[in-house]
Amino acid sequence: MYKHLYKRFIKANPSHHHFACHSHHYWPDITRDAQLQYWDDTAKFVDDKWEHIFSVKVPQAQHLIAEVLNLGYPEQIVFAPNTHEFVFRLLSSLDWNQKVRILTTDSEFYSFDRQINRLSELPHFEVVKIPTLPFDTFHERFEQAMESADWNLIFVSHVFFNSGMVCDVERLVKDAPSNCPFVIDGYHSFMAVPLNLNPIQDRVFYVAGSYKYAQGGEGCCFLYVPPSTRHRPLYTGWFAELSKLSAIGDEVGYPTDALQYAGSTMDFSAMYRLIATLEKFRDEGLTVTKIHTLIQQNQHQFLAELDRHHHPLVNRANLLAFDLKNHGHFLTFNLPSSEATSELVQKMKTRGLVTDSRGSRLRFGFGLYHDFADIKDAVVKI
Ligand SMILES: Cc1ncc(COP(=O)(O)O)c(C=O)c1O
Repeated sequence: MYKHLYKRFIKANPSHHHFACHSHHYWPDITRDAQLQYWDDTAKFVDDKWEHIFSVKVPQAQHLIAEVLNLGYPEQIVFAPNTHEFVFRLLSSLDWNQKVRILTTDSEFYSFDRQINRLSELPHFEVVKIPTLPFDTFHERFEQAMESADWNLIFVSHVFFNSGMVCDVERLVKDAPSNCPFVIDGYHSFMAVPLNLNPIQDRVFYVAGSYKYAQGGEGCCFLYVPPSTRHRPLYTGWFAELSKLSAIGDEVGYPTDALQYAGSTMDFSAMYRLIATLEKFRDEGLTVTKIHTLIQQNQHQFLAELDRHHHPLVNRANLLAFDLKNHGHFLTFNLPSSEATSELVQKMKTRGLVTDSRGSRLRFGFGLYHDFADIKDAVVKI
C-alpha cells in the first residue's frame, strides 16, 4: 500500500525480499531530494551553513521528533551521528571519582553493553543486568532491583533489540529513584511502536536515531534531555559552546539546555533526510499508530503463512514473543545454535530473502514496503 514511497530502493533490488528493515531500513525516495538539498544548501550558504542548520534545520527536526513523542520541550533535543556518543556522554556525566552503580538489562544494544562491560573492568564501576526473560516477571524483577541499591544510572530499552518485546517504561519510571538519571533507548521503537513521553518528560532521557524506522539513514541520532538537567559530561565537544554557558570560577562552562550533551562537527545530511521522511509521513497521515497497525497486520499474515509452511526451525514454537499486540516491528525466532542460525540466514539470502540474526536469534523485520504477496513469497523462501 505504501510501496510507492520506496520505488528507488525496490527498483535497485529487484530480486530481493528485504526483511531486515528493523536493521537497515529502505530509504523513501524523498530522501534523495533531501540529500541533494544538503549539497545545494552547502553551495548556497558556504560559511553560513552552520547558521542555517542551527537556526532552521535543527529546530525543524526537533519539532518533528517532539511531535512524534508528544514532548513539550522540543528544544531539549540534541543531535549526534550515533547513539554511542550519547551513551558515553551520559556515562561520563557521572562522578567517576566515586563508586558508579548502573542498573540495566541483559538485552541492551552493543553500543551501551560493550561500553559498560569495558567500564566494569574498572574497580569502582558496578553493573547489574536484569535478564529480560522470562518476560512475564521482568518488570517486577526490575522494580525490585531499582529498590535494592543506590543507582547512579538506569538504562533500559523500550523495545528490546534481541526479541522485539516491549518494556513498559512508564511503569518502571514511576518506581525509579528520583535522583538517578533514567535513560530509555528508543531506537527500536521510534516511528514504530507508539510511545507518549509527555507524562514522563521531566524525568527521562530518551535516545534514538534515524537509521531504522525513522528511515532517514545513518548519521542522525538524538537525545532528549529533561529540562532540569545540569550535567557536566567529561566527554564534551565545542557544539556545547553554541549556547550560553554557566560556569563557576575557572571550570569548563556548560549550557543549561540540551547542548550540555552536544559533541562537535557532524555531517547533517542525515538530518535533512530525516526531516524529509518525517514531513512526508506527516503529510501522508502516517502516524506511528497507523504504521504500527499496518506492520502488525503484516506480522499476523506472516505467522499465518508460517503455520501452513511447517518449517522445522522457523515456527511458532521457536517464536520469542510475549504479547504480539504490543511488539516491535520484527519477529525473533530462537534457533538451536548460532551456527544453525547464520547458516539459515545465508541460505535464505541466496534465495533472495534478506533477514538478519543476533547469535542464535533469527530476526524478520516488517516494513511499509511489504504487501501480502511479498510475505507469501518470503515464507516460501525460508
Ligand atoms: C537498541 C539499539 N540502540 C542503538 C542502536 C544503534 O547504536 P549506534 O547509533 O551507536 O550505532 C541500535 C542499532 O541497531 C539498537 O538496536
